[in-house]
Amino acid sequence: VIIAIDGPSGAGKGTVARYLADQFNLKSLDTGLLYRVVAKYSLQQGLTPDQPTEILKIAQTISVDDVNQEGLRGEEVAARASQIAVIPDVRAVLNQIQRDFAHADLDHYAGVILDGRDIGTAICPDADCKLYLTADPETRALRRLQQEGQTCPATVQKMMADRDQRDTMRPAAPLAMAKDAYLLDTTYLTIDEACQKASYYIQNSCLQGTRSA
Ligand code: DC
Repeated sequence: VIIAIDGPSGAGKGTVARYLADQFNLKSLDTGLLYRVVAKYSLQQGLTPDQPTEILKIAQTISVDDVNQEGLRGEEVAARASQIAVIPDVRAVLNQIQRDFAHADLDHYAGVILDGRDIGTAICPDADCKLYLTADPETRALRRLQQEGQTCPATVQKMMADRDQRDTMRPAAPLAMAKDAYLLDTTYLTIDEACQKASYYIQNSCLQGTRSA
């Protein structure tokens, strides 16, 4: 079973993905973290987004295990991740890591769940279930603000708007809802309600006959 979750930052992808992973015994990957790892290392090396050859070299050295490290969550790394995500060669390398993850040995898991921007459209177009989470920009900014302990709402909202614009407008695999995705607007939902709705959809539309954990 492959479940794909896409949507902009702050829509609730991560929270819903963790819930579903637990409930349905799925191996999960937050694919944005791969971009963040490359962003963090490129910041540490003092590279700028207009050095694609150097950034590609970094991408070629990372593995899926690198997502388990500190220092990936801040807005500076997020902004840089979005900037390097426009580089097609970098995407190609990170795409391969994601596809390998999606099709690797499942061990004791019942399937995989990946969340990101292009999972349903580019990484796993044949996923069994596709969810597209969204929420209005003010709500998404507020959630980020609370998660990251930032103090300036206007700054966070501006950085998110820039990121949304870049992620949506880039030529290479832009953020988009797959035609066969289920749309879940979480603006007025509590975390619990969003998770329940996603779970209900998956249980009843995609996984009929599959036992949950
Ligand atoms: O989900 P996130 O905020 O951690 O993602 C950081 C950036 O990585 C996002 O702004 C765009 C890029 N990204 C991407 O292009 N494709 C993905 N599947 C996941 C993230």
